[in-house]
Amino acid sequence: MKGNDIREAYLSFFETKKEHLRLKSFPLIPKDDPSLLLIGAGMAPLKPYFTGKVEPPCHRVTTSQKCIRTGDIENVGRTARHHTFFEMLGNFSFGDYFKKEAIAWAWEFLTEVIKLESSRLYVTIYPDDRESHDYWHDMIGLPESHIYPLSDNFWEIGEGPCGPDSEIFYDQGEEFGTDPENQMGGDGDRFLEIWNLVFSQFDRQKDGSYRPLDKKNIDTGAGLERLSAVLQKKKNNFETDLFFPIIQEAAGLAGVPYGRSAESDVALKVISDHTRAITNMIADGILPSNEGRGYVLRRVLRRAVRYGKLIGIDDAFLGRMIDVVVKMMKLAYPELMEKQAFIKKVAGVEEKRF
Ligand code: GLY
Repeated sequence: MKGNDIREAYLSFFETKKEHLRLKSFPLIPKDDPSLLLIGAGMAPLKPYFTGKVEPPCHRVTTSQKCIRTGDIENVGRTARHHTFFEMLGNFSFGDYFKKEAIAWAWEFLTEVIKLESSRLYVTIYPDDRESHDYWHDMIGLPESHIYPLSDNFWEIGEGPCGPDSEIFYDQGEEFGTDPENQMGGDGDRFLEIWNLVFSQFDRQKDGSYRPLDKKNIDTGAGLERLSAVLQKKKNNFETDLFFPIIQEAAGLAGVPYGRSAESDVALKVISDHTRAITNMIADGILPSNEGRGYVLRRVLRRAVRYGKLIGIDDAFLGRMIDVVVKMMKLAYPELMEKQAFIKKVAGVEEKRF
């Protein structure tokens, strides 16, 4: 399945089979949320629905949310999975269904819709969470050997809704390593986290305390890039159809084919990651500057240009990369096409300046 098909399969499963309202991705600039610089998770734009501050248009919502996270930017291109821009698939319940349905539907999607082998699926749970354990064990039928208690299974992103979680992992097999690092929750690639089910029960306050929410919610996040890697049987996200055409374009301009050396591959991966981020940030109204979001964009853009230089691209090249990104993403985000000329202009000016 192509990345575009996986996104559509997910959204349509929750929309048509599980009565969710499908919403468009919210922009990367948070609205009325001074606690966040950029949207970094599927639930972030939905916080007022979780806390009950605003009545949601439906108590079940599904989205594929554009996200930016730059905390680990130095790792991008050096690992199989770090990205500055990614899409998070999510199904959300605002005081509606809870653990039982969230677990059952995640399993149904993974094993019946995209047909992953159930014997390769493992889960982690918060150690005190017997309820989730029992749903996984008794309702789904997962053996104990596939259920791992993990004390850091608690998900939060700054202030706002948070809670214990249960993560679903895909075992890529022994050829991805057998060392302890590769256990669930480690940095290895063998057990790949593909979905996080957050049982959103608390509202984290500015002072760091946790206020119990009046209603219990479900917040989930499944990485589109990771699901694509699993289904396309690729060793890293960059080799999926969500990135590879960008890598090929950059490789063509540089005259350096993918696979030639570890260092040039890092550069090609960085360029593919960063140009997806640049394109979507500018499309959502962020302009390069020396502070805040504008600075994040400037830094990502300049890194892309620097890595281009490292592999021998001397002329301005971001415009060519942006064309490829728009072509790949326009099915899900048609607004990219309308803004294509503007995105290229903003990126081009900053590239020349740098
Ligand atoms: N909000 C769930 C996650 O980002 O994993």
